[in-house]
Amino acid sequence: MPDLKFPENFLWGSATSAHQVEGGNVNDWSKWEKGNAGRLANQAKNHWEKWQQDRYPEMFQTRNYISGRACDHYNRFEEDFNIAKSLNHNAHRFSIEWSRIEPKEGVINEKEIKHYRQVLISLKEKNIEPFVTLYHWTLPQWLAEKGGWLNPKAPYYFDRYVKIISENLFDQVNFWITLNEPNIFSFNSFFRGVWPPQKKSILKYFKVLNSLNRAHKLAYRSLKLIDLDCQVGIAKHNVYFENFPFANFFWNNHFLRKIKKHQDFIGLNYYFHHRLFGNKNKSVTNMGWEIYPEGIYHVLKDLKKYHKPIYVMENGIADAQDVRRIEFIKDHLIWTHRAIKEGVDVKGYFYWSLLDNFEWDKGFWPKFGLVEIDHQTFERKIRPSAEFYAQICKENKLNL
Ligand code: BGC
Repeated sequence: MPDLKFPENFLWGSATSAHQVEGGNVNDWSKWEKGNAGRLANQAKNHWEKWQQDRYPEMFQTRNYISGRACDHYNRFEEDFNIAKSLNHNAHRFSIEWSRIEPKEGVINEKEIKHYRQVLISLKEKNIEPFVTLYHWTLPQWLAEKGGWLNPKAPYYFDRYVKIISENLFDQVNFWITLNEPNIFSFNSFFRGVWPPQKKSILKYFKVLNSLNRAHKLAYRSLKLIDLDCQVGIAKHNVYFENFPFANFFWNNHFLRKIKKHQDFIGLNYYFHHRLFGNKNKSVTNMGWEIYPEGIYHVLKDLKKYHKPIYVMENGIADAQDVRRIEFIKDHLIWTHRAIKEGVDVKGYFYWSLLDNFEWDKGFWPKFGLVEIDHQTFERKIRPSAEFYAQICKENKLNL
C-alpha cells in the first residue's frame, strides 16, 4: 500500500478538557462527585462485565470517582506541552474552566484569566496552535444552583462569560469551540438523568438542547464582534448509524442545521457506530465500546454537505495496556484519508486524549492517554502508541 499523505498545513494534535485534567476544580461536577462516588463504586458490579471488573478493580474504589487533583495539569501544563511538542503535535485542544473565571456570579477572577493567558503563550512558544473550548460540561456552582441550562437566562450568562474571555484572550486564539458535544451532555444529564444535575425529563432534555443552541449563537456573534477573523465552531458528537436515517438526522444533524449560519468550521468527535440490526464481530475497547474505524469515513462524508472545513476534534480509545491504540489510530486515519480523497475538507485530527484523565462518571480507570499518568505521583510516561502517532505528525503522512 502507498503512504497516505495528508493535505498541506494539516493540524495534528490531541485534546483535553479542564475538569478532566486540571485538578482542583470547584464546580457542579466536583460537588456531584462527592455525593455520588460511593454509589458509583457500589454499582460498578452491575455496569461492567466480568473481564472488565477483573482487569480494572479501581472501579470498585470510591476515590476512582473523585476528580481531585486529576492530572495536576493546572500546575504542569508546561511539562505537558513540552511532551506534546516532543511528539510533534502542531495543535492542541483544551478547555477553559468557567468556574475558575467566574467563581461567583458576576465576579471575575483576573488571576485565572492570567493563568489561561500563560497556557496560551506556552502553546504559542512551541508553535502549537491552540483550539479553545469554552464549555466542556462543567458549570460554576452559582449557576448550577440557579438551575443551570434550565434557567432561561443561562445562554446570556454564558455569552457574558464568553465576552470576558474573548476580550482578554482574543489576541492569542484563532479557533474557538463554544460547546463540547451539546447532544451527549443533554442526553446524559436530562434524557437518561445519569449525570449532574440528574433531572430526567424529555421536556427538560429538549429545553436544554434549545438553550445550548441559543448559547452557541450568542457566543458566535460576540466572538466575531470582538475578532472578526477568529474561527468558531462546536465539537459535535456524531455516530455512524448504519441503516438508521432518523437517528442520523436527529442525533447527527439537527443541532448542526440549526447553527448552520453560525459556524466557521465543524468539529467532529467520533467514537461510535450503531447498527439497527445485529451486532457482530465486535472488537472492543477497555470500556466495551466497539472499534469501528470505517464509521469515521461515513460521518465525515455526511458532514460534507455543510461545505465547511472539518476538524476531527476527538477520536480515541480506552486502552490501558496500549495494545490496540496504534492500530486504532492507523485505521481511523486510513478512513479519514479516504474521506479527504473523496473531497471532504478535513483540516486536522486531534487524538483524545493527550493524558490519562478523569472519565466523568466512570472515573479514572479508563485510560485514553497518549501519555500515561500515575495519579499518585503525577509522573508522566509516554506510551509507545504516542511515538507511533508522533511519526505521523512529523511526516504529515501515514506510512503503511
Ligand atoms: C468527551 C470527553 C470524553 C470522551 C471519552 C467525549 O464524548 O468529550 O470528555 O472523555 O468522550 O468518553
